[in-house]
Amino acid sequence: MSTSKIEIDGVGKSYVSGKRRDRKVVNALQGVNLTIAPGGFVSLLGPSGCGKTTLLKCLDGLIPITDGEIRVGGKAIKGPGRDRAFVFQDFRLFPWRSVLGNVCFPLETTVSSRAERETTARKYIEMVGLSAFEKHHPHELSGGMQQRVGIARALAVNPDILLMDEPFGALDAQTRELMQVELLRIWELTGKTVVFVTHSVDEAIFLSQRIAVFSARPGRISAEFDVPFGYPRNEHTVRGDGRFVELRHEIWGLLKGDQNSSFSE
Ligand SMILES: Nc1ncnc2c1ncn2[C@@H]1O[C@H](COP(=O)(O)OP(=O)(O)O)[C@@H](O)[C@H]1O
Ligand SMILES: [Mg+2]
Repeated sequence: MSTSKIEIDGVGKSYVSGKRRDRKVVNALQGVNLTIAPGGFVSLLGPSGCGKTTLLKCLDGLIPITDGEIRVGGKAIKGPGRDRAFVFQDFRLFPWRSVLGNVCFPLETTVSSRAERETTARKYIEMVGLSAFEKHHPHELSGGMQQRVGIARALAVNPDILLMDEPFGALDAQTRELMQVELLRIWELTGKTVVFVTHSVDEAIFLSQRIAVFSARPGRISAEFDVPFGYPRNEHTVRGDGRFVELRHEIWGLLKGDQNSSFSE
């Protein structure tokens, strides 16, 4: 029996589009191997188009893989499951629903009692600090607050695994830093396994225990780095630490050395 929560084993994914002579095949992922421990926080880092979103969707079971196997808790996944929840960069909230309505949404297929759904939803709305806003609609909230709703909605089904696709990519720099601290607090509180996609080297180092760096197409993991900081983390001490600067430098060197990559600082 494996002690890993997630095992990505020789995973490949190609997209096929068009018919006959217009048929196009894009090899998005090739030979991807990665294991993630229960309760781990791992970032997938790499240039745009290297297959980060593709791998996250494969982990969620939203799209099928074309090679290899993905196991969660030792079992090959066959599609989406309630043990995994996705957080999107663009929030994807229902504009016509309140904060409470949005967070209740994923519970509607499994919890028949409305009161019970609302009790669960309120617990997570409180966890993300939005109790005073449960009746508000998304357009009345800032970007950071909308993503808090996105996180509460993902937590509502009590998944073991949070799959986060550049969740803070649409936020301004200051809000982004606040949200990073918030996410670490929630992660420590809930013990979820987090797979976090980003193309920010600093964000990956500040948040994660481990970083898997992708090379450009076809996406594969070119290196893995252990981050030498414990938790809780303080952004000032972490970012000012010589080991942060060193690791940042090492990862940048790798990304810039990737001939197919368009990564720029
Ligand atoms: N549905 C799709 N059909 C065809 N090609 C796709 C599809 N989705 C993504 N791709 C291609 O797969 C590659 C990886 O995309 P993606 O996973 O979105 O990268 P990233 O998230 O790292 O920016 C890109 O070349 C992209 O154009
Ligand atoms: Mg992406």
